[in-house]
Amino acid sequence: MTMRAVAIRGHGGPEVLEFGTWPHPMPKPGEAVVAIRAAAVNPADGKWRAGMFAGFAPVSFPHILGYDVAGVVVGGAGLTPGTRVAAMLDPFTKGGYADYVAVAADRLVAIPDGLSFEVAAAVPTAGLTGAQLIERAVDARPGQFVLLTGAVGAVGRFALDAARRRGVEVVAAVRGTRKDEALALGAAQAIALGEDDWSGGPFDHVVDTVGGDAVAALCRHLRPGGRIATAATTPIDPQGLAAIPEFYAVVADAERLGRLLDAVAKGEIAVPIARVMPLEEAAEAQRLTDAGGTGGKIILTP
Ligand SMILES: NC(=O)c1ccc[n+]([C@@H]2O[C@H](COP(=O)([O-])OP(=O)(O)OC[C@H]3O[C@@H](n4cnc5c(N)ncnc54)[C@H](OP(=O)(O)O)[C@@H]3O)[C@@H](O)[C@H]2O)c1
Repeated sequence: MTMRAVAIRGHGGPEVLEFGTWPHPMPKPGEAVVAIRAAAVNPADGKWRAGMFAGFAPVSFPHILGYDVAGVVVGGAGLTPGTRVAAMLDPFTKGGYADYVAVAADRLVAIPDGLSFEVAAAVPTAGLTGAQLIERAVDARPGQFVLLTGAVGAVGRFALDAARRRGVEVVAAVRGTRKDEALALGAAQAIALGEDDWSGGPFDHVVDTVGGDAVAALCRHLRPGGRIATAATTPIDPQGLAAIPEFYAVVADAERLGRLLDAVAKGEIAVPIARVMPLEEAAEAQRLTDAGGTGGKIILTP
């Protein structure tokens, strides 16, 4: 049996993405088979494609990219066939840019009624990373004062929501054009990253989704004993900072994903979708995501 998928046979630019016919996934014990209705394109997809992680996490070729999916259970272990589900796939094996994927049943979460496959697919990696940055990586406490960079991005807006729910006060560092949006999402203050100086009090923690020199400059306002957690792959120079920036890697958490999907379904967190494109256009979708400035997730539909 075969299916349609987009795979890479080596690292490179978006042109290495190959749309074609691939073997249908065979579930191992404990896995379900999901018919994918929507797969999100994450910034990391282009990094895996380019080989940025090949030194410590080599993949075997051909390799199907994509690890945020929403679809319908069609067989295997776990939930009843026909159940609408979303999942963050194992980032090392992936398989999301495809008609079907075999996924560990304990990663599957039922999609709440009324939530579209496209929006559900946009939630897992961004949502879990944002929530975990606040709740696990820096473990911000009620009343604390946190700098959040990229606060209106996919990860950032979930971090902002997690902070708001904990009673954490957020200073959002965003593009100058998006300060109002950050304030509307619940930031106490907003500054233009790389343009505005910070003259307020010291930050208890820094949560970063951008990286680089402009973030390092703001990290100088971290109070001693505070933490800097970054999800970004652009490093923050630790020179002169009160803490060494620590890279945080998202971990699967089906229970937390379920609560995030519920919050999105209730309209408590907005998840902008920039474009929905057919699976065949995965290379163009990655070009757009790699370039940034999309204002929302790009979703592929098989
Ligand atoms: N470690 C992990 O487990 C993990 C998990 C998920 C994501 N990530 C990483 O986290 C980062 C953010 O992911 P995402 O999905 O949230 O991406 P995203 O949706 O593109 O959000 C990034 C936000 O930061 C903004 N930004 C980027 N460079 C900026 C700059 N120099 N000044 C001001 N704003 C800037 C972007 O604005 P523009 O759109 O205008 O550029 C966007 O609003 C990526 O590097 C991604 O690979 C890591």
